[in-house]
Amino acid sequence: MTEPVQYLISGDDAASITRSIERGVVRGELEPGEAIPSVRALARELGVSPSTVAAAYRDLRHRGVLVSHDRSRTVVAHRPPLAFRLAPEVPEGAVDLASGNPDPTLLPDLGPALASVGPVHRLYGDEPTVAALLDLARADLTADGVPTDHLAVVGGALDGIERVLEVHCRLGDRIAVEDPGYIGSLDLLRTLGLEPVPVAIDDEGPDPAALDAALQRGVEAVLVVPRAQNPTGAAITADRAATLRTLLAEHPDVLVIEDDHASWVSGAPYHRVVDDRARWTVVRSVAKSLGPDLRVALLAGDDETVTRVVGRQRLGTGWVSHLLQHLAATVWHLAATDGTLERATATYTARREALLTALAEHDLVAHGASGMNVWVPVVEEVPVVQGMAARGWAVQAGEPFRLDAPPAVRLTVASLPIDRAEAAAGDLAEVLGHRLGTRRG
Ligand SMILES: Cc1ncc(COP(=O)(O)O)c(C=O)c1O
Repeated sequence: MTEPVQYLISGDDAASITRSIERGVVRGELEPGEAIPSVRALARELGVSPSTVAAAYRDLRHRGVLVSHDRSRTVVAHRPPLAFRLAPEVPEGAVDLASGNPDPTLLPDLGPALASVGPVHRLYGDEPTVAALLDLARADLTADGVPTDHLAVVGGALDGIERVLEVHCRLGDRIAVEDPGYIGSLDLLRTLGLEPVPVAIDDEGPDPAALDAALQRGVEAVLVVPRAQNPTGAAITADRAATLRTLLAEHPDVLVIEDDHASWVSGAPYHRVVDDRARWTVVRSVAKSLGPDLRVALLAGDDETVTRVVGRQRLGTGWVSHLLQHLAATVWHLAATDGTLERATATYTARREALLTALAEHDLVAHGASGMNVWVPVVEEVPVVQGMAARGWAVQAGEPFRLDAPPAVRLTVASLPIDRAEAAAGDLAEVLGHRLGTRRG
């Protein structure tokens, strides 16, 4: 038997040790869960002081590359943010209930909108936002009670969230997030070196007691998804929103970020958690409603937040292409007036409800108050994903969405025909029954 080759960490100061470990993780030579040497052992090996190694480890812990389960043992994080996360596998011929995409047949036709976008060059220094898009955004947000005195256009919900976090947060800051929550946001926090603080949720949104506990512990920001919560489908109700606003009012300095990523096709009304507070933002993306490739997002917020986001954006991408903004505005206007958005919303709702009804008939507990996802608690995820794959369904394991939340699988119903819902539920019931059977046997 050959011995596994040990990755050799190198470096003579904290920065080079950090880079060496990152290199090992990126190349897969240091694997998730693998223990790295103790501070003293590595310091001895490299001939540097223990405080140098400790500084490198601390930095990597803050950035989510390493985790310490106790004082003596540090391991590569189970989901280090450096490696590119693999998309869920969809076996050949399987129905894709895993990838989380909108149904392409329910997205608006781009043809007429493309034809109407004027072939005009924009130059450096031009106004960064397109008036037609801002007008639509203003009307849309105002109808939901969101102040629009300060607005920006960013490259999608996640882009907006990243920019807001970047201008307000520092390495190691704690951010309250829903648990389970969107993989992209969790990975983003880790990549930025921010520490996610899990807040349990139910079908009506973040659990007030859990949010209160996170706020008492001390967090710099709270990130919530008001509807179409990914992965559970939770939608914040009017009552819950009022309770959360009251709680948050006791912490006036905390930044509140609302990620309204599915907005118009979420199938649930919007109830705002942000109030008249010092630091807040609502990001509303067109990705789910108009198509991921038209991804722009409208970002409303307080003066300082929006000004700093726009200032930082200028130093990077500069602005979101005017061609894209024009296209998004035109498609949005057409889709809102010709019934496309309404049809898509009704179809997603009908598909979600068909699956929930079918699962209930099999006595399976499932969540999906809004959006495109149904979240089904299970005892073990991997056998369920494999069992469903063997029956022709690709479903997503809940693990990457979870912090402290119990296991579950996510089924995206966006493209699930209503007349296949019963088959999907029946197969899931069978897979779960099999697991119970094997455990008893
Ligand atoms: C909760 C949540 N936020 C944000 C996004 C990404 O939005 P965007 O594509 O606009 O960045 C997703 C994508 O599925 C999501 O589920």
